[in-house]
Amino acid sequence: MFDGDFTRRRMIAVGGGVAAAGLLVQGAAALGQSTGPAATGKPMPDGVDLPANPPATVQPGSVGFAIIGLGDYALKQIMPRFAQSGRAHIAAIVSGNPAKLKQVGDAYGVPESARYSYDSFAQIATNPAVEAVYIILPTGLHAEWAERAFAAGKHVLCEKPMALSGAECERMIAASQRANRKLMIAYRCHFEPYNMAAMALMEDDAVGALRLIRTEHSYRMGPTTPSENWRVSRALAGGGPLEDYGIYGLQAALYLSGEMPESISAATYRPANDPRFAEIFAHVSAQLRFPSGATAHVVTSYDSAGLNMVEARGTEGVLKMQPATNYGGNTLTLEAGRNRQELTPGDSEVQFARQLDHLASAIRDNTPIITPGEMGLRDLRLIEAIYASAASGQTVRLNPDATMRR
Ligand SMILES: NC(=O)c1ccc[n+]([C@@H]2O[C@H](COP(=O)([O-])OP(=O)(O)OC[C@H]3O[C@@H](n4cnc5c(N)ncnc54)[C@H](OP(=O)(O)O)[C@@H]3O)[C@@H](O)[C@H]2O)c1
Repeated sequence: MFDGDFTRRRMIAVGGGVAAAGLLVQGAAALGQSTGPAATGKPMPDGVDLPANPPATVQPGSVGFAIIGLGDYALKQIMPRFAQSGRAHIAAIVSGNPAKLKQVGDAYGVPESARYSYDSFAQIATNPAVEAVYIILPTGLHAEWAERAFAAGKHVLCEKPMALSGAECERMIAASQRANRKLMIAYRCHFEPYNMAAMALMEDDAVGALRLIRTEHSYRMGPTTPSENWRVSRALAGGGPLEDYGIYGLQAALYLSGEMPESISAATYRPANDPRFAEIFAHVSAQLRFPSGATAHVVTSYDSAGLNMVEARGTEGVLKMQPATNYGGNTLTLEAGRNRQELTPGDSEVQFARQLDHLASAIRDNTPIITPGEMGLRDLRLIEAIYASAASGQTVRLNPDATMRR
C-alpha cells in the first residue's frame, strides 16, 4: 500500500510549504519561541547501571561535553563510554526530570552548577567547561536544540537521524556556520571496525564490480501509541523505521558503493487500525540505482521479525554482514569463488569512544569531520525522495546533491 496521504502532508511540510514554514520558523525564532514539539522530562529508563564511583580525573586538553536528554541511549550506551575516551569527558547534563538530573549528576560527578533543565539551558553559554553539546533527544527536537546549542556558542554532536527534513538540516548547518562552531552527526558505524573494514574491502574491489547491495533493518515493535512512545509519533519521529533504523542500511548502501543514487523507487506500508502505525509507516522498501548500474535494495520495518544485515554482491564475490550495524557482535564474511573468509577486524565497542574522540580532535586540532552535517542533510534528502517516490508511485530522479529533479 502506498500511503499518499501521510506523504502528501509530510511533503507539504517539508517541500511545497517550505517558504511559508520558513517564515513561520524565522518569526518564532525571533520571538524566542519553539515551533515544534516541546522537550519534556521522562522517567529513568529500566535497566540503567549508573557508575558506582564518579569517573577518574579529566585528561589535560580533554573536551567537555554536555549531554542533553538522559534517555535510554544516553544512559546505557553513550555516558558509560566516555570512560574509554582519551579526549572527551562529561562536563554537564541537561534533563527535564529533576530527580533523574540529580541521580545521574551525582553518579557521574557532574557539579550541581553544571546540571541544567530545558528551561535553564541558555545559561550553559557562560559555562566555559562545556565546549560541545551532544544532542540525544527525540529526532523532532534535534534542529531546535542544535540551534540553541550554537546560540550558546557550543559545538554540536547530534544523534542520527540529523532531523526530520532537509529544510531542518539546512537550518542546523546555517546555525553552525553563523556560530563558527562544528557540527557532527553521530553516525557511529563510520568508527566501527567491521563497517570500516567493509568500506576498505569495497574500496579495494574485493567483490569485483559491484552489482547489488541489499540491506535490511527490521524488528517487531511491541504494542504502543504515539502518546506513549516518541518513536511512533510523526512530530517526533517523522515516517518512523526508515529515519530510526533503516538509515543504517541507507548509509551502508552509500559507503559501500561509494556512489550517490541517480534515481529511487520506493514503497511504504501502513496497516489499518494498528495504534503503533496511526502516524508512522510500518515498513519502507526502497530501490536505489547508481550511475555505475549497481542497485541497492534498502528495507526497514517495525513490524517484522528482527534482522540486521548488509550484503554487497559483485562480479567476483560477496561481502556479508549479519548483524551489520549493532553496538557489538557484528560479523563480516567475504566469499569469493570457493574461498570464504571470516574477518574479525576489532572490537565494535570502540565505535562510541572513537566517535567522541573524533569531534574532540576536530575541535582541538581543527581536523575534518568525516560525518558532518552535510552528510546528515544528504541522507534526509534521500529519505524525502524515498517518501516522494512511494507517495507518487513513480521513480524519483535525483541530482548529485540528492535533491529531487523537478
Ligand atoms: N546511534 C544509535 O545507535 C542510537 C541508538 C538509539 C537511539 N539513538 C538516537 O538517540 C536519540 C534518543 O533516543 P533514545 O532511544 O535514547 O530515546 P529515549 O530513551 O526515549 O530518550 C529520549 C530522552 O529525551 C528527552 N526528551 C525530551 N523531550 C522529550 C519528548 N517530548 N519525548 C520523549 N523524550 C524527550 C528525555 O530525557 P530527560 O528525561 O532527561 O529530559 C528522554 O529520556 C534519538 O535521536 C535516537 O535516534 C541512536
